[in-house]
Amino acid sequence: MSKAVSTLTLQKYKKDGRKIVALTAYDYSMAKILDRAGVDLILVGDSLAMVALGHRTTHAVTMEEMLHHTRAVTRGVSTAMVVADLPFMSYQVDVTQAIMNAGRFVKEAQAHAVKLEGATRLNLEIIERLVGMGIPVMGHLGYTPQAIHGLGGARVQGRSADEAIKLLDDARALEMAGCFSVVLEMVPTAVAKMVTEKLNIPTVGIGAGNACDGQILVTDDLLGKFTDFLPRFVRRYADLSTVCQEAVASYAADVKSGDFPNASESFLLPKDEEAALNKQLQLDKSVPAGSTEIC
Ligand code: KIV
Repeated sequence: MSKAVSTLTLQKYKKDGRKIVALTAYDYSMAKILDRAGVDLILVGDSLAMVALGHRTTHAVTMEEMLHHTRAVTRGVSTAMVVADLPFMSYQVDVTQAIMNAGRFVKEAQAHAVKLEGATRLNLEIIERLVGMGIPVMGHLGYTPQAIHGLGGARVQGRSADEAIKLLDDARALEMAGCFSVVLEMVPTAVAKMVTEKLNIPTVGIGAGNACDGQILVTDDLLGKFTDFLPRFVRRYADLSTVCQEAVASYAADVKSGDFPNASESFLLPKDEEAALNKQLQLDKSVPAGSTEIC
């Protein structure tokens, strides 16, 4: 059995130049597949609001829903590090709210770490407090989906020299506050490379080029299971949507034709019991229907 991945493992990977492999999962069976395939870090992303629950943005997902899915994921994992996303409005009010909610992921869902978006002054305080109490925190910079309306849409961030410097300052602040890693989403390759080189903690990119210390994608995008839209930075490794539709269409045809289920997919009555049953049915037939007395 492989050794469990921890924050120290990921730091060592950065030092050794070994890329971190990260993906999202929202349920037990997918978490088990990713874990067995050797994924280092599994994120229970708030993207589940969109790909698993059908919302248009990540805003609507609740703490209870995130906890429910995180529990399912941690049950399927034996090696990977499981990071749970703090959903929108679960940490933006104050430090106490953030600590209570982050703590629930560790206590009630066995997550190994939490992730939050942005490097506001409040976030930096939250990170320091959580790290101080032993809860590892992953940062998230660049395009931060919880701020989609404030950012004017899902747009590449850090496209000017000034914005790139601001991104670097934010990344350094997250590192100083104690984050063990930072996700860089939708950032030009050169900017992600510069941030990656300046930080001691590993960066994990999504739409941020190949210079990051690791990569993450939404698994449903990678597998072609979620098809509402395809971000330009996604590489599709399978077309599960078509595979599943074809399989379901074959099942429907077999049900309609009576081909499913066949004998080997059914439970047979032992021969002697079948004979006894037929005998009883014969006897039953000799009693005219409706002749049973009603007391
Ligand atoms: O919610 C999510 O899936 C994420 C990844 C895209 C990094 O935050």
